[in-house]
Amino acid sequence: MSVIEVKDLYKRYGGIDALRGISLQVEPGQIYGLLGQNGAGKSTMVKILLGIVRITSGDAYLLGHPAGTTEVRKRVGYLPEDHSFPGYHTGESLLHFYGELYGMNRADRVKRIAESLDIVGLAKRGRSKIKTYSKGMKQRLGIAQSFFHDPEVIFLDEPTDGVDPVGRKEIRELLATLKDEGRTIFVNSHLLQEIELMCDRVAIMHKGEIVRTGTVAELTKTVERFSISLAPGTPFPAAEVKALGFNVESDDEETHIELKPGQSIDTVIDHLNAKGFRLRGVRESKQSLEDIFMELVEKAERGSTKRGVRVARAVSQTRRND
Ligand SMILES: Nc1ncnc2c1ncn2[C@@H]1O[C@H](COP(=O)(O)OP(=O)(O)OP(=O)(O)O)[C@@H](O)[C@H]1O
Ligand SMILES: [Mg+2]
Repeated sequence: MSVIEVKDLYKRYGGIDALRGISLQVEPGQIYGLLGQNGAGKSTMVKILLGIVRITSGDAYLLGHPAGTTEVRKRVGYLPEDHSFPGYHTGESLLHFYGELYGMNRADRVKRIAESLDIVGLAKRGRSKIKTYSKGMKQRLGIAQSFFHDPEVIFLDEPTDGVDPVGRKEIRELLATLKDEGRTIFVNSHLLQEIELMCDRVAIMHKGEIVRTGTVAELTKTVERFSISLAPGTPFPAAEVKALGFNVESDDEETHIELKPGQSIDTVIDHLNAKGFRLRGVRESKQSLEDIFMELVEKAERGSTKRGVRVARAVSQTRRND
């Protein structure tokens, strides 16, 4: 059974179509990422699954029950976006408060607080007031709150928002730990790299619609590009390779070949070898999730220029090279 199943879901707030026919499925044990720009509808999606927001039309199931069913609430954890815990609480007192809401007795709470704070790396700061915590510490405490009652599914809405790179890495590691414990995690983010680094599967959302889904590997593999360099001073036989049906583009140092479906780079390499060319290097570069995301966003925005895509390519190229 899927942990989350959504079919043709619509949400209209007054005159705003926040969700326009969303379908998605999340399997147990996955870290599933919902990626989209501000206003794409990510938080709305999560709030519907949790029963905080009502469905306009369509179906949404969580753990086999219609979204919002109270009996599944205990099996689900949630870190809302822009949460702010009262600063006068300490990490420990906040978790006591949540534990009481879940009906846990004092002895269980004390034990679980120690475990949870340890998992999120706040064991030493549990008795400090939240107002003395950094943003990263607050987010980690928020995550501790989300898994405190041992839920099967955890929803995290922008868990790394406002957190510095070190803190983000800690949060990613924390999610991996929670996944290893067998939980399913649903993460919302507008940060491409975060999703790329932490998720098993991704849905890219744009203006209330899902425009692509797949594993990170699948999404980054859509276009396979090889960069080939020959021995110095040898011009690449572009015309011959083009005649074999390949897309060929050369710059000063390398020749780039973008494979079409069904093509294999081996055909090119065999041809070059047969013709006596000496290869100095063959490098595969995958199109990053960022490229795909930017392209989808660009395509969806009618009348926009191609500039954004080019900028994104340049950025991801730099990242690959460093
Ligand atoms: N309570 C509400 N009443 C009216 N419109 C709303 C409400 N909540 C969200 N919206 C609108 O629905 C759309 C989707 O919003 P949502 O918060 O789901 O997006 P999001 O992808 O989470 O964005 P962000 O990255 O900024 O958090 C937006 O146009 C937003 O203005
Ligand atoms: Mg949001």
